[in-house]
Amino acid sequence: MTEQLIPTRRAFPADDPIFALNAEAQGRKAQGESILNATVGALLDDSGQLVVLESVMDLWRELGALDVAPYAPIAGDPAFLKALVQRHWPSLGSAGSACATPGGSGAISLSMRNFLEVGQQVLTTAPFWGPYATMAAENGLGLVTVPWPEVDQPLDAAAWAQALHTLLKTQGRVLLLLNDPCHNPSGRSLSPADRQALAGVLREASALGPITLLLDFAYLDYTRDPAFVAAALADYAKLGAEGCVLVGASMSLSKSMTLYGARCGAIAFPWCADPALQAALTQSCRGTWSNCARAPQALLLRLAQDGKAQARLAAEHRHWSDRLASRATALDAALEAEGMAPLHWQGGFFVTVPAEDPEAVGARLRAEGVFTVPLPEGLRVGICGMKATEAPRLAQALRRGLR
Ligand SMILES: Cc1ncc(COP(=O)(O)O)c(C=O)c1O
Repeated sequence: MTEQLIPTRRAFPADDPIFALNAEAQGRKAQGESILNATVGALLDDSGQLVVLESVMDLWRELGALDVAPYAPIAGDPAFLKALVQRHWPSLGSAGSACATPGGSGAISLSMRNFLEVGQQVLTTAPFWGPYATMAAENGLGLVTVPWPEVDQPLDAAAWAQALHTLLKTQGRVLLLLNDPCHNPSGRSLSPADRQALAGVLREASALGPITLLLDFAYLDYTRDPAFVAAALADYAKLGAEGCVLVGASMSLSKSMTLYGARCGAIAFPWCADPALQAALTQSCRGTWSNCARAPQALLLRLAQDGKAQARLAAEHRHWSDRLASRATALDAALEAEGMAPLHWQGGFFVTVPAEDPEAVGARLRAEGVFTVPLPEGLRVGICGMKATEAPRLAQALRRGLR
């Protein structure tokens, strides 16, 4: 390839690391090896099949030609946007400034494009969902982190305040991506006291410059405790309504509806009716993907008008949340049986086992056929893709690998 044909100035990794791990796991399994694959990022049943929610598929089958074929409006169907926001905050009467996006990823990327200038830094928590860094790089941004609380530890408010102050001083604005509640990859949420401390830190820092808080809601429907999730959303709504920081949400149909491949979601700022924000979002849609798929938007609208389908979906969410909880409980019991600390999963598809040298530990586990995803802070375990009965094998491999 001549130099002119190299696509851009950036260096690209040869492959996505998680896909590469997954491919190795599957290849070795095909050779007859007994493999425990905890790298998967989608919900699987105990026989390893992808879970597809029946209530959602029934709605999908009801879609007609006009739900599927025409272009959707550039910023998305306003009724879809309102229905999606109301799934999160039922008492809100409007989506505010909002647009449809291809999944939560589209929403996150669009926030980066619109709230920061090239060369600036996004703020998020460590550990974080890896593609945040990819999206930041694609948008010409860097990424800095504040610590996600350890198990049973409070949020380090001083570290968060320091990071906010530093960024406001150096770049005059902050975009904070917060994947709470049901954090990927820790599997834990901020406590009510953490949320209160965070709100205090944000209020105080907002005197120094504009702060956008983007709540990344990828996994809310998969939780041990739906009331805890509702309380978190109520706290964030209160902060949003106060108006000292601009609160928005990235919402996705990928996990909530098991419509990963339909690529549907939205970004919404329900407490902001500024036409300039709406214009910026609409312009970005037009200039990036023109508009989004109509079918999943139409599906969500049908769901919003169908009480029976909502009840069936809620029952399916409970069923699969209970399954995730039993896998997490089995893993905690197995870890404790091996003399390790439990991880206390609260929601989402993952937990993370802390490790000092995750790459080395991950390689030792792989040598015995156990696949996890090494992150800088530890090993990500996809409880979404493993069985409760595999927990003892994973814990034993971890005890050996962590030595
Ligand atoms: C934390 C987090 N945010 C956002 C997303 C976005 O997913 P999608 O673009 O499929 O909605 C994911 C997907 O894995 C995720 O884990």
